[in-house]
Parts: sequence; C-alpha cells; structure tokens
Amino acid sequence: MIIGSNLLFFKNLPSTNIHAADLLKKNKLPEGTIVYTNYQSAGRGYSGNKWESEDGKNLLISIILYPSFIKPEDQFLISMAISLGICDFLMRFIPDCSIKWPNDIWVNNDKIAGLLINSSLIGNTIDFTIAGIGININQEKFLSNAPNPVSLSLLSGTTFNLPSCLKMLESDLDKRYKRLISGNSVQIKKEYVSRLYRLNEWCKYRDINSTYTGRILGVGDYGMLKIEKQNGEILEYAFKEIEFIL
Ligand code: BTN
Repeated sequence: MIIGSNLLFFKNLPSTNIHAADLLKKNKLPEGTIVYTNYQSAGRGYSGNKWESEDGKNLLISIILYPSFIKPEDQFLISMAISLGICDFLMRFIPDCSIKWPNDIWVNNDKIAGLLINSSLIGNTIDFTIAGIGININQEKFLSNAPNPVSLSLLSGTTFNLPSCLKMLESDLDKRYKRLISGNSVQIKKEYVSRLYRLNEWCKYRDINSTYTGRILGVGDYGMLKIEKQNGEILEYAFKEIEFIL
C-alpha cells in the first residue's frame, strides 16, 4: 500500500494542504503519507475559495506523493487518477457520480467533493505533489454561499463511520495511483473522460467572448477541456477560461 502507508491525524488545522507543505519543508515524509483532520479553520478550495466543512463530519485529507515518473506537462494525469479514485469510493454507496472538469465530483447537479492539487517542480521533474481532498460525508447543513453542496448522508439518509470511510478511500485511491505508476495513462484518460459531467450533452457555456451552446468532447493536452460549438468549431480551455452555466 502506498496511499495511506503513513497517517498523520490532527484534531484541527488551518488547512491539511498547508500543513502537509509545512511538514515537507522540515522532513521528507514517506510517499502516500496522509495528513488529515476533523476541522480546518482556513480550508482552501480552488480560486481562493474557502472549503466549508463542519467539525468532525467530513473527510479532509492531503496526500503526499512523489510522482517523478510523470512529466510536468502530463501532471493532469494525477488529477485524473485521484478524481477516479474518489468516484470509486463514492460509488460504494451511491449508484453514480460524475467529474465536473477539472476535478469537482458531482452527484447529479450537486457537488459532493473537491480536489486541490499542488505540485512542486525541480527543473523538469515533479519533486512532490500534495493532493488535498474534501469529501462531504455526514454534513447536513451548509452555511457558505457555495451553490450546490451535498453529502453522502443527505443523499442516503444514513450516517457514515468516518474512520471506515477513510480506510475505503485510501484503498480506492491506492489502486488508482498504482495503475498510474504502471503507466496505464491511456486507460486513465479514457475512464476520466467517460465520467465527465455533461459529456456530449449540448449545454450552455460562457467564455471571454460569448455565451454559447456547446458540448464537451473530452480533454486535450495538459488536461485542457475540449468543447464543440454548434457550428462545428472545437475550442480548448484552460481552467478559469470557461464557465459552465448551470
Ligand atoms: C475545490 O473544489 O475548490 C477544492 C476543495 C479542496 C478541499 C480540500 S479539504 C482538504 C484539503 N485542505 C484544504 O485546505 N483543501 C483541501
């Protein structure tokens, strides 16, 4: 087992991602180390957003990885593998979930989990990656203005045991990470694309030029999102260059 080989629990932290980075500045921790907590006072989401999580209700973890076998330009593969591992875990309990590009995990039209990945490079090699994962498990009321949060417990009406959820998540992520190590990137990309929220559906998007109807075709180089417009034009977007109109 790589992911979950070393578990570091803290009752509360500003953010597991920040703490994992601080620990790495002092010592090289074993690959697969998980830093986890019950509560984050400054949990981080994408684009400087906060990540809301009630004390002791959800999974808040950061995984330390050394994926030096991945070229920096291919680092989106790590996001893909981890997003798929989160889906594997969720689908132990619910029939389906999808990945809203680049790496939000949605159930129908609600967000159940988020992934915040930071990689540090030395020259042309990934020195380390910190994969921060927040999964809403038992929280039933969300106070922030995040538009559409949901949790496993809201979806199923039951309460989950967090330590056993963590064990299952570790095992699901570990399987996906090992497949990444064995070089199965074509299959990872194929499965990631097949799980994309709105894949092949005509829906509304907004980019810097206009609001238009398009359909997601997949991901291109560097994990860019490919959308086809109704006139047949195919556009590729980096994160933040495209907004999904819900
Ligand atoms: C997002 O969807 O915006 C990404 C959310 C990532 C949240 C997790 S919770 C554990 C880890 N520590 C953080 O501060 N953020 C990530």
